[in-house]
Amino acid sequence: MNILDLLQLKDKRKITMLTAYDYPTAYLVDKAGIDIILVGDSLANVVLGLDSTATVGMPEMLHHTKAVRRAIKNALLLGDMPYNSYQTNPEEAVNNARCFIEQAGCAGVKLEWFKDCLEVTKKIISAGIPVMGHIGLTPQTVDRINGFKCQGKDAESARNLIAQAQALQDAGCFAIVLECVPDKIAGLITGKLKIPTIGIGAGVHCDGQVLVINDLLGLFERHTPKFVKKYADLSSEITKAVEKYKLEVLRGEFPDQEHSYNIEEDEFKKIQGV
Ligand code: KIV
Repeated sequence: MNILDLLQLKDKRKITMLTAYDYPTAYLVDKAGIDIILVGDSLANVVLGLDSTATVGMPEMLHHTKAVRRAIKNALLLGDMPYNSYQTNPEEAVNNARCFIEQAGCAGVKLEWFKDCLEVTKKIISAGIPVMGHIGLTPQTVDRINGFKCQGKDAESARNLIAQAQALQDAGCFAIVLECVPDKIAGLITGKLKIPTIGIGAGVHCDGQVLVINDLLGLFERHTPKFVKKYADLSSEITKAVEKYKLEVLRGEFPDQEHSYNIEEDEFKKIQGV
């Protein structure tokens, strides 16, 4: 999958995208044929146990993205630019975006909408780095958009979202994530744009969908947004497996013969009594 393939999927078939943060998960996501793998800054919450996505930086993002890169054969790999890596200085933003491409093997980067987003987006794109935009609920600046709420629920804020999406397309983005947006507004934006929209909590009319893999797998118990569908309950599977292991160790049932190494009786006799 490359960016050109992706652009051609609009109006042909839905685009599938998931996050991944480590080698084994990325390997399975890629093997399942998902189109895009994003190493999201949701790493902060679902992997590192932090409260806010704004608390991870470039070192953590690059570390995890490199591990994901090693696992992927087909999917398009995107790096999520962390808070403060692109908001303060456009030159620094370009350098940080370049790190995702050159050090971590990404095909592009994603960045969330903020005040000077268009200037930074254009700079990164003119350095030859593909950019996916992200509007609606933008977790890195959640304090500036009245919290973790659906965005664009009144005509004025919906009009703002439509304008942001159009501006990001004009700036050269190859796709846009719409997070927590009413389905009809997401449909309107999707219909107006030439580039694909990828929804998360934005309904069925988007060109594609993305979820955080830990949410989909039922592997993150702290908080589950309304838009998450759990396709598995790995938390309880893992808990059951660990409890069974503990019980078998305490009872002396594990390891049994099947999981132990043998020595020939003759050899063993030679060292008995030594
Ligand atoms: O960080 C993340 O996981 C994301 C997705 C929710 C799109 O930005």
